[in-house]
Amino acid sequence: MTTNTEIPRAVADHEFHRSSGVLKQWSPVSSYNEWDPLEEVIVGVLDHATIPSFHPALEATMPDRHVELFKTRGGKPFPSELIAAGQRELDALCRVLEAEGVIVRRPEPVDCSRGFATPDWAECGGLYSAMPRDVALVVGSEIIEAPMAWRSRYFEIHAYRSLFRHYFESGGRWAAAPRPVLSDASYNPEYEGAEGDDRFVGTNVEPTFDAADFVRCGRDIFAQRSHVTNHLGIEWLRRHLRGEYRVHELSFNDPSPMHIDATFVPLAPGKLLINPERVAKIPDVFRGWEVLVAPRPCIPEEHPMFMSSRWVSMNILMLDHERVLVERGEKPLIELLRSRRFTPIPCDFRHFNSFGGSFHCATLDVRRRGELHSYF
Ligand code: ALA
Repeated sequence: MTTNTEIPRAVADHEFHRSSGVLKQWSPVSSYNEWDPLEEVIVGVLDHATIPSFHPALEATMPDRHVELFKTRGGKPFPSELIAAGQRELDALCRVLEAEGVIVRRPEPVDCSRGFATPDWAECGGLYSAMPRDVALVVGSEIIEAPMAWRSRYFEIHAYRSLFRHYFESGGRWAAAPRPVLSDASYNPEYEGAEGDDRFVGTNVEPTFDAADFVRCGRDIFAQRSHVTNHLGIEWLRRHLRGEYRVHELSFNDPSPMHIDATFVPLAPGKLLINPERVAKIPDVFRGWEVLVAPRPCIPEEHPMFMSSRWVSMNILMLDHERVLVERGEKPLIELLRSRRFTPIPCDFRHFNSFGGSFHCATLDVRRRGELHSYF
């Protein structure tokens, strides 16, 4: 596996390639969509994965049966055998990616068991460095650090900073959304049963978003308003990208929305995977796209899913227009994808799933071979 420090430095200064008739500076960061051929990816790690302390923002998205865990064991490590099993699956995933020709990078393990504080609040620990998809969005040649809404994730980005610095030194662009304060005013504990914008635990006093609430389709980027992503967050990204990209807000039937990638998953130009429980109507802009309806997840009901629904079954990662990483146990989804001319690559990821995500969450595609297009 390639380590962080082996990234070639300053190769970009005089490497140019032709793009749409204009000379463009080469960048180690270049990803416009979810499907162009994957060249380089960050894969998370589970070292020091820590149970976050209980907070209304967590309760809004956690499966009910595990709420007690956060109430009683916040700041303690997740079970060590589960961390070890998840780590083995992550390492195996890296080997699969490398065998498919992809360069793999890993974040630096951070000790999440250490508490931290701001002038406004204190946390007894962090969470993990397992889900790079949540903490940063790659749009073209730019890495954009997300203003995350959970206090326990306030410093999660630090695990990626040395990687991002090297990408920057090699010619990539690097920005961060305004760091939120996350005072009590950022949360509405009375969200349950409320209507309209009040139905989310996250208020709208400052921009917040998790990067995993966005999916990229070239010039069009689709966002969902969720318990962690608010209107100001979406608007901040819209204005940041104005001129080159259009940011659209979608809404779904999901009482616990947090991350769009187990709900609405564009797979390739003209092909879309949807969650049948959450997507009642295909957004007009996708009219004419072939729609694949995700089969019900095969994750056993009793499997520990501390931080997400079982629908992370559809949290799959495209390696190009055809090859796709799918959990080995999701046989109906594998069959569906085969029948629609995809090439599924089955991988074991059940233990990792317990931590709240699957292949799309556990990765951040830094570079895909392709250019900026409009697909709509
Ligand atoms: N938060 C998303 C779900 O639980 C991934 O389905």
